[in-house]
Amino acid sequence: SSEFTDVSEYELPLDTKWEFPRERLVLGDRLGEGVFGLVVKAQAFGIFKDNNSVTVAVKMLKEGSTDREMIDLIREMEMMKLIGKHRNIINLLGCCTQRGPLYVIVEFAPHGNLRDYLKSHRLVACSFTCVSEYERPTVALVPNNSGTSVAETNEQKALTPKDLISFAYQVALGMEYLASRQCIHRDLAARNVLVAEEYVLKIADFGLTRNLQQSDYYKKTTDGRWMAPEALFDGKYTSKNDVWSYGVLLWEIFTLGENPYPSVPVTDLFDHLRSGHRMKKPYYSTPEMYDIMLSCWQEDPNNRPDFNSLVQELDKILMSSV
Ligand code: ADE
Repeated sequence: SSEFTDVSEYELPLDTKWEFPRERLVLGDRLGEGVFGLVVKAQAFGIFKDNNSVTVAVKMLKEGSTDREMIDLIREMEMMKLIGKHRNIINLLGCCTQRGPLYVIVEFAPHGNLRDYLKSHRLVACSFTCVSEYERPTVALVPNNSGTSVAETNEQKALTPKDLISFAYQVALGMEYLASRQCIHRDLAARNVLVAEEYVLKIADFGLTRNLQQSDYYKKTTDGRWMAPEALFDGKYTSKNDVWSYGVLLWEIFTLGENPYPSVPVTDLFDHLRSGHRMKKPYYSTPEMYDIMLSCWQEDPNNRPDFNSLVQELDKILMSSV
């Protein structure tokens, strides 16, 4: 199709471990525009052992893309191969590198991104009684169905406090894995976490090359409101920057997808944070969860927890939650 860039001028090495025959891929609707490319829903016939068709997501370049963008997509694919599989990340399933445009085939997440998901499921079981300086988002109240988790049913059920903690835990698990593979995400936010079958959360776009020199490319995705001050202003990147962003992501979860620092212009953010300001406790957050957010927002990166200890702590909280 002329809609998709023909990159046959490039010759890519064949990697038989990952190559998938492009005749067995039927491209469908556009799922979104990525940073530099396009993500399309597709059916992949026989990508797993049986011959059934599996819904997948396919990353590709847009028409008129540059060599740089081609290199970045190849890098992303190679990065995904190196990182390996984990339940809480969007896994690579295969690729089409021969005789046609480059297609990077990844897992499809049917429920879209976590931010939109939270916003469209703003029903929280009434048993939830948290006092906060934030107002409760205006949502319809539903009869108390405590004990029923969204994960247990197909109908749209109210999110329970436990669901929100499970979301926090799953993202921490995925990040613990990525950090163990020396991968720094650099743009961890609810918009970059996808909701798969059975409400399994999967971190997306962890393989992107985010090169600070390419500021035009970089600016398109990264929002300073998720970035640790030292990353925003000194370009110092470690997993501890991701921990800061994880704190902002927790805040997004427990506000059900609100916008962080709504009243602070991004240009004032540094001074705002330096003078010790932090976001208030979200309505749906317990004091315990808010303490975790504050620990992630420690000014000194060394004082922030790592993802291993966040996983341990959230595991305990999840086990003791009703
Ligand atoms: N949008 C972007 N990537 C996606 C994916 N893997 N699944 C569903 N929607 C997406």
